[in-house]
Amino acid sequence: MLLEQLQESIDFIRSKTTTKPKIGLVLGSGLGSFVDAMDVEVKIPFGELPNFVPPSVEGHGGHLVIGKIGGVELAVLQGRIHYYEGHSMSQVAFPVRCLSMLGIEKLVLTNAAGSLYAENPAGSFLIIEDHINLMGDNPLKGPNIQKLGPRFPDMTNAYDPELNKILEDSLKASGATYNKGVYCAVSGPTYETPAEIRYLKIIGGSAVGMSTVPEVIAANHLGMRVATLSCLTNLAAGISATNLSHDEVTETAKKVEEVFKNTITDFVQKI
Ligand code: HPA
Repeated sequence: MLLEQLQESIDFIRSKTTTKPKIGLVLGSGLGSFVDAMDVEVKIPFGELPNFVPPSVEGHGGHLVIGKIGGVELAVLQGRIHYYEGHSMSQVAFPVRCLSMLGIEKLVLTNAAGSLYAENPAGSFLIIEDHINLMGDNPLKGPNIQKLGPRFPDMTNAYDPELNKILEDSLKASGATYNKGVYCAVSGPTYETPAEIRYLKIIGGSAVGMSTVPEVIAANHLGMRVATLSCLTNLAAGISATNLSHDEVTETAKKVEEVFKNTITDFVQKI
């Protein structure tokens, strides 16, 4: 069933473009304007793509964009589907699986995340080196589809160390403030309580967010090489002096738009 759905989506996309990018990019909350800097060949709303769920959250455009940045061909998911919207993990992972079947070998994921440490302030970036999945679910649950990947995928290098080195070079080149760390994925949609944030610090987290991990798992299952860049849009609950809001998240993302664009543009040239 899933394979047929993927094939249907691929056939639709292929009917719109013959471009075959090797790099995929997922744009997180408030980071969708990256597409404005691209030479866009096709831009398809998720709502028109067979088997895609249109995203509902503000700040998520919900398009598949195929085009170029700095001469490099990219397939971009502008906006993503979130688990907290009520969709299954399989639905959340579907667009990334689609990218793999389109021929994407390297996947660059971006997101907005809360920082667990005041030393990594809002507006700085975090290269994700590892994750802790606290979503209570996994996109690979259920019968394994051997054609997609193995039953028990290894996650030791889920975040490709070589890609991460290059990502660090690109962050330096664009003058970004950054650090490296561990992303804790929670289901949301509530932001965390201060006690939950203390817990996440104890278990080794650096940042917290409500996305990305389902896609990273699906991408690793498919054998894609993954790099993830978090934009730390706010200090997490109890660390921040103010209450959390989605507006703060999108406002910070907007402020770092230029550095973000320069970093990703440089990165995709080098990988
Ligand atoms: N918590 C969870 N998800 C988030 C946050 C946060 O503080 N900021 C942006 N996404």
